[in-house]
Amino acid sequence: MNEQERIVALRAELHRHNHNYYVLNQPTISDQDFDALLRELQDLEARHPELFDPNSPTQRVGSDLSNEFQTFRHTRPMLSLANTYNKEEVREYYNRVREGLQDEPFEICCELKFDGLSISLHYEDGRLVRALTRGDGEQGDDVTANVRTIRSIPLQLSPDGGWPREFEIRGEVLMPWTSFEALNREREAREEPLFANPRNAASGTLKSKQTSVVAERKLDAYLYYLLGDTLPADGHYENLQQARLWGFKVSDAMRKVRTLDEIYAFIDHWDTARRDLPVATDGIVLKVNSLRQQRALGMTAKSPRWAIAYKFQAEQQSTILREVTFQVGRTGAVTPVANMDPVQLSGTIVRRATLHNADFVAQLDLHLGDHVLVEKGGEIIPKIVAVDPAFVTSERGPRVEFIRRCPECGAELVRFEGEAAWYCPNDSHCPPQIKGRIEHFVSRRAMNIDTLGPETIDDYYNRGLVHDIADLYDLSVDQLNGAHGERQRSASKTIQAIADSRQVPFERVLFALGIRFVGEQMAKTLARAFKSMDALAAASLDDLLQVGGVGQAIAESVIRWFQDADNVFLLERLRAHGLQFQLSEEALAAQSDRLQGQSIVISGVFAHHSRDEYKALIEQHGGKNVGSISKKTSFILAGDNMGPAKLEKAQKLGIPILSEDQFLEMIQE
Ligand code: IVH
Repeated sequence: MNEQERIVALRAELHRHNHNYYVLNQPTISDQDFDALLRELQDLEARHPELFDPNSPTQRVGSDLSNEFQTFRHTRPMLSLANTYNKEEVREYYNRVREGLQDEPFEICCELKFDGLSISLHYEDGRLVRALTRGDGEQGDDVTANVRTIRSIPLQLSPDGGWPREFEIRGEVLMPWTSFEALNREREAREEPLFANPRNAASGTLKSKQTSVVAERKLDAYLYYLLGDTLPADGHYENLQQARLWGFKVSDAMRKVRTLDEIYAFIDHWDTARRDLPVATDGIVLKVNSLRQQRALGMTAKSPRWAIAYKFQAEQQSTILREVTFQVGRTGAVTPVANMDPVQLSGTIVRRATLHNADFVAQLDLHLGDHVLVEKGGEIIPKIVAVDPAFVTSERGPRVEFIRRCPECGAELVRFEGEAAWYCPNDSHCPPQIKGRIEHFVSRRAMNIDTLGPETIDDYYNRGLVHDIADLYDLSVDQLNGAHGERQRSASKTIQAIADSRQVPFERVLFALGIRFVGEQMAKTLARAFKSMDALAAASLDDLLQVGGVGQAIAESVIRWFQDADNVFLLERLRAHGLQFQLSEEALAAQSDRLQGQSIVISGVFAHHSRDEYKALIEQHGGKNVGSISKKTSFILAGDNMGPAKLEKAQKLGIPILSEDQFLEMIQE
């Protein structure tokens, strides 16, 4: 066997092992042996770049190169399903089908409704050629490079064949519960925002610009819809059984039935059995099995008449309420939290649930020791929905009252007009507010003092080293030594990182201050409009309202912040420490209004600057970067490989297309 033949053989063998492991869950070799084969293939491929194949098993690990998504039109639109929430509506669907088919016998295929994001895969000659997201149903993003890293999606169908030369198969990309929980644990440790549910995590991952990120995150995919001009059978169910033989992961939880009672039994069974599944499901899908009958029934404008989704009620459990505690956040808002006997809910153990605010607590009429119904919907934070009526007795524990004073500092709580939350008004002396503000100040997108995590801040605060953000700049290596087990080296690293933060540009300093409603984007807008801290501090309500994107609430919040004497003093100390209080010379010189009022779409791959740099340039010159082409688009900044769909649309609307060089020239004039 020469090297070329060995490459072909290794690829086939590794595809087979992937299938055994990720689709059948029945590996036939050890991980070590698998890795050895993979490494052998990698070495051979490195010696034979001319034999590169994007579908090789070595490509499943992804790369760090930024990948751009082009938009493509779906060959057949990706419709959604009409939803039903009770059996009555299921019966209506069943009767509509029966009438539509004029009493001809029919079968219904019952399936699980997977809760991820839908994907369309195109195969030609047994090879994956393109993967598109649903997009708007008419056109979707080309995520082929990312999809290649999902191990359960076959890149090369098993050679035993039987598959049509060309077909499309649709399904759901999912993040299994275990991967989801591990990912959130990691993110928590790195202080990154958590994903609310596996669907968001899967969708965020599949849209990632780096295939290596997708490869790490361990996505899975179930396929549930085969389309093409030459399919093996007239039955939807039968076609999927074939697809399984070709190498696709098709759920076992599929039943062909004829009667309503059988449908109800399927629903009842999976309503509880779904708790043991490795992935999230949110309902049942019912489909008329015969493709001929599907065609006869046709579609409405939005969804097929032959299929329907039945959505499960969110899972509920009963448990006992033991205690209500109150949490104070960075803004001073006080959130009541229920502490309960642990209970198993949708795959995780739940001990705490949010009670939102005082009104919510009052509505529930909670007493300590009550049996309460806890629910977990699509989100990971569970909530109490009611006192469990099955257990209400006349002898109840003490009624849960909302507190009047801050549990952290004792200040009397206040409520602002039109808001549900109670606030601790003692923002300058209430510990969680102080610590929360410091955490925000040092965070990556603000001052980026990355050696300081919440625990370290907590420690510095408890030892009296920092009371506000300006205190950070007075810290010395000696003071930090010994703190929280820190050694000399890490102490000096921290001091250095704090010193370095004095170079952080003005717009991020502004964001770091944590002014209510002034997020990252708003801080940029304000920095560009006023150019310095002093000018912003002196701005009137009207001045602020003149700025695009600034509304009443933001303007008032800014005015209030700069009027507060504590804040004025804080700013003077920060100024004395040398923080950037105005736009840099460079930023000022680079600014112009040359692109004022223009909406600009960026597309393609660029040679001189990154996409983000171009975005920043557009903003510096007063323009707006927008995502999609419309009549209002002023021009398109196009690099190499601009998506054909975008090109077509631009030409149709007569929108000018500028090259990188033309654009740079334009802003330098
Ligand atoms: S069939 C025309 N089957 O639910 C039929 N969809 O609103 C198209 N989904 O966008 C879909 N599990 O993302 C089908 N077993 C299943 C499904 C399923 C989940 C999703 C899919 C679709 C949405 C329908």
